[in-house]
Amino acid sequence: MIPNSELAALRAVPELHVPEDLCAALERWGTAGLEVGERESLNWETVKPEFLRSDGWLKFCREARRHWAEHCHVVVRGISQVADGATALPLALAFGDSFLTYGPGCIVRDFRMSPWRKGASHRLNEGEFHTDFSTSVLPPAVTAIVCLEMDPGGPAYGQNRVASLPRLRAQLTHSGEMAALDWLERTEVPLANDVTLPVWRGRLVQDGLLRYHPETVEAGCRGTNLPADTFQHFQRAIREAAMTVSVPFVLGRGDVLFVSNHRALHYRGECSVRFIKYPSAFESRRIAVFHLISEFADEKEN
Ligand SMILES: [Fe+2]
Repeated sequence: MIPNSELAALRAVPELHVPEDLCAALERWGTAGLEVGERESLNWETVKPEFLRSDGWLKFCREARRHWAEHCHVVVRGISQVADGATALPLALAFGDSFLTYGPGCIVRDFRMSPWRKGASHRLNEGEFHTDFSTSVLPPAVTAIVCLEMDPGGPAYGQNRVASLPRLRAQLTHSGEMAALDWLERTEVPLANDVTLPVWRGRLVQDGLLRYHPETVEAGCRGTNLPADTFQHFQRAIREAAMTVSVPFVLGRGDVLFVSNHRALHYRGECSVRFIKYPSAFESRRIAVFHLISEFADEKEN
């Protein structure tokens, strides 16, 4: 096992507070609304706002990238005017500038947890450690999760965790789970979003890129006529290692988690709901999610 002192350092949550003047500039920029924010985010070269040239911004970028290089994620705090997630879009420019779109001009997706929905992005049950778009030919490099509304039961509910690949590897090695590590790095695994959809096959860690989602592993098995639980013992070992090297944290309204989708797994704990008027009116965790297709090489300055 990794010694406790080393584990404490491994489990620290890297945080960065946006300086007050930069916050004010971002919030002013966000008042134009999400649609305008998305449009400008897809055209930074022509409409780059002045605050992205300030010393405060350059310092923010340097610190964000330092955390990114060391931890594969960073929690950015300090913004209070979320503008449906628009305010967080410029912050992503610390990591890259190629936003993933899911429709013409659309970058940000909005997810509210619900007691009445079954999909993984909306249901209240504890989620799994995973990467996003695990069945894509090339999954996006950066996932951004913006807290629009906190879980009403927080901080006990709606927690987040991140387990980076280097730390996952170290923990699997230290705990003697070499077969699980071998499965991650050397075994061809089928992944699918649904048994009816095409199956992606390959190594879960390939050329330094990690892709993983227990549900897509299970669907991939079913789609190739294997029992859904074929790799369950490896999945359990990975979950246990990811829990050990991660620490729970919550996002306050306006906080943003930027996490590498190539070198880390992210996780959401069980969520709660507070009914205002049963069954349709309730308070619950609401997040905005967007992705960057690629990330800057270390030496690139924005
Ligand atoms: Fe995710």
